[in-house]
Amino acid sequence: MANNRLEHAQQILNKYQAIAHDPFRPAYHISPKFGLLNDPNGLIQFNGHYHIFYQWNPFACDHRQKFWGHYISADLINWQEVSPALAPDTEYDANGCYSGSAFVYHDELYLFYTGNLKYGADQQHRASSQCLAKSKNGIDFEKIGIVIDGQPAGYTSHFRDPKIWQEGALFFAVIGGQTDKLQGQVLLYRSENLTEWQFLGAIAGSGIAPFDDFGYMWECPDLFRLNQHWVMLASPQGLAPQGMKYQNIYQSGYLVGDLNLEDTHFSTQHFEELDRGFEFYAPQSFVDNQGRRIMLAWMGLPEENRQPTVESHWLHQMTLPRELTLHNNRLYQNPVPELKALRQSHITYQNTVFDGTRSFNGVAGDCYELRAEFINLTSDLSLKLRSNGKDQYTLLHIDPRQNIITLDRNHAGSGDGGIRQCQIASAQSLELVIYMDKSSLEIFINQGAEVFSARIFPAASSTGISFESNAPCHLMSLDYFGLQHCDVIQ
Ligand code: FRU
Repeated sequence: MANNRLEHAQQILNKYQAIAHDPFRPAYHISPKFGLLNDPNGLIQFNGHYHIFYQWNPFACDHRQKFWGHYISADLINWQEVSPALAPDTEYDANGCYSGSAFVYHDELYLFYTGNLKYGADQQHRASSQCLAKSKNGIDFEKIGIVIDGQPAGYTSHFRDPKIWQEGALFFAVIGGQTDKLQGQVLLYRSENLTEWQFLGAIAGSGIAPFDDFGYMWECPDLFRLNQHWVMLASPQGLAPQGMKYQNIYQSGYLVGDLNLEDTHFSTQHFEELDRGFEFYAPQSFVDNQGRRIMLAWMGLPEENRQPTVESHWLHQMTLPRELTLHNNRLYQNPVPELKALRQSHITYQNTVFDGTRSFNGVAGDCYELRAEFINLTSDLSLKLRSNGKDQYTLLHIDPRQNIITLDRNHAGSGDGGIRQCQIASAQSLELVIYMDKSSLEIFINQGAEVFSARIFPAASSTGISFESNAPCHLMSLDYFGLQHCDVIQ
């Protein structure tokens, strides 16, 4: 017995040491201290602090239990982990406090989330209810209970992820759903008092114009005004790959349209993916006190649990906070300017023309921001990141004739390989902003018109950055910033 307890203590110690020494731990992204992280939840600013809650299994790198973990920050850079906000400990959420949103009402912070319950032999049945919890200090939450008890008629119990907003004295919420015919849809609800909710109808998804067959489930909807329009974010499941599009197991994208709350109608033309990379899912947004619409997403995907960090007992991370703007009905995403505070060294090169392979003194690392502007690109350009100078690198390739950008991680190290691509309006002039953080990469192209997010797992010593072109290539400016570790989770 005594020995068993000693062994157990030793196992716990080994776990923490594995996490602490893992070279893949991010330096400035939110990740779980241990266990699995998935969706960002309840994004909000409350009493001056930013709050990011997240789907968390503290016990293992799998999806069996879901708590709401909780980080707070005064500056969107340094995050302090506080007590978990919600635990799956009641009869209505025993199998998971699933995703949801936050809002402030009468000076209290409310959480609106899905209680997930499984029952029957082998737990093959599911009950989903939408539930409330609240807090005076923004840290200690008290559960209020179920306010929407089950899905509307004609829908299955895949009914989750309420995102709430207020219009005058009324509350509205969008919730992800699935019809009995297995069509994924976004459902709109209204309430006058937060406890009684009326189902108004489905406003987007499979079977709702302009979509015919467009996924069997839509998760994590979000709906907000941006400029004169309404923007919906959603994560449909079940889209077949189509050319360069929909290459990941599940997709996340946006729809720009107009919402008519009187007749429950969201008019929109089409669905566009938010991110062209490998890991990006379940984005959620909020408005801060500067009026910015800020979005974070899970830099991971459901059913993608085989990453090398599992050996060190943690899995997945968030994207950076990205500000959303709308231009000509397209969403642009840019990392929030607060991130400049992470810069601790700067190397700059201006107006350089190179032909062949070129690297730059001091421009290398595994934790940096890299900004590059090219003009008059006429032939292929390759950037090798996290390179060992030989056979290990992550490749960003630009084809300015076909205007195709490719991210290739087939030689990136351990972890999954593959390529992802997108076509942009014009690749002759190109602005790249790249955030590298140990085992993640976010590439913002042309003022955030396109973004590639990816996890990569190279050797810690693979830090090279090189540029390759077979014709003279005009690099207008190159700015390398070494980034410091912030108080995320180290
Ligand atoms: C999206 C999702 C949500 C659900 C949560 C459970 O990744 O499946 O629909 O609420 O994760 O963790």
